[in-house]
Amino acid sequence: MHFLLDGDPGHDDMLTILLAAKHVEVVAITTVHGNQSLEKTTINARKTVELGGLQHIPIARGLDRPLVNEPVYAPEVHGKTGLDGVELPDPVVPLSDLTAVEMIIAMSHEYDDLVIVATGPLTNVAAALRIDPTLAGRLASISLMGGSLTFGNSTPAAEFNIWVDPEAADIVFTSGIPLRMFGLNVTRQAAATVKELDRIRDLGTPFARTIADLVEFYRANLERVYGLKGASLHDPLAIATFIRPELFTMKPMHVGIELHGTRTRGMTVCDYRHATGESELGGKNAVLRGEPANCDVAIGIDVEGFFDLLTDTLAMYA
Ligand code: RIB
Ligand code: CA
Repeated sequence: MHFLLDGDPGHDDMLTILLAAKHVEVVAITTVHGNQSLEKTTINARKTVELGGLQHIPIARGLDRPLVNEPVYAPEVHGKTGLDGVELPDPVVPLSDLTAVEMIIAMSHEYDDLVIVATGPLTNVAAALRIDPTLAGRLASISLMGGSLTFGNSTPAAEFNIWVDPEAADIVFTSGIPLRMFGLNVTRQAAATVKELDRIRDLGTPFARTIADLVEFYRANLERVYGLKGASLHDPLAIATFIRPELFTMKPMHVGIELHGTRTRGMTVCDYRHATGESELGGKNAVLRGEPANCDVAIGIDVEGFFDLLTDTLAMYA
């Protein structure tokens, strides 16, 4: 399989790139608005590949605003640069001449087993699907961090990546492409506390210390804003599923994107009624109702196993 990483670096998007690069073939990175402006998320993607010595991976700049909404950023979590915590050098690695949409389409022709790992708002992916209606038939799958089986973060019902651009999410979730969804119900469990950060720092390399300092900035903000004890490493789960699939429990179900609810716009409405084999009729022979499953949704995670994978991978960097 070949992987294209589309995201809005962002501390956890950064970890997704660093984790993926040591385990799978990353053919491109595309950037999108989200945690910060497109300009800043693109600078941060370039900083990340330089930090990891990954300059061979092309980076293509994407769309700077949602399909309908006005842009909304998250400086309260990721800081004014979108990757605060350590002053990384201004990047010199050049950007691809292609736009993100052109890169997605080009890579889908280059590789017949292309997986898109989407860790930001789905604007680029949705735009590519609209510009090239044959794209959906060429993608192997999309693995995305977004949504939730339960609670939201941007609103009580909606998670940031979906909430920022629900129209884009609706295009992706109705595309027919095989989907894996890693929502807050599991990603909040992948919480890097001081213990996990000390474990990373104890790797003893300048690289590990830099990562620990960056993630500590992110952790401290999540504690301040949401009262969380750990830095939710949301995004890396969307690639970890391909490296160590046994870390996750997935359930097929229908996921629909709420576009019109006054309180629920941006919610991933997950039809989990039958995932347990039960239904309102009771008993194991549930009469399956509702729309057919369009997504494998993560409902469980081996948190210790995930941090073993992450820490072991970070140890591979000098
Ligand atoms: O809600 C969490 C998601 O929003 C993560 O992808 C984080 O990086 C931000 O994009
Ligand atoms: Ca992200």
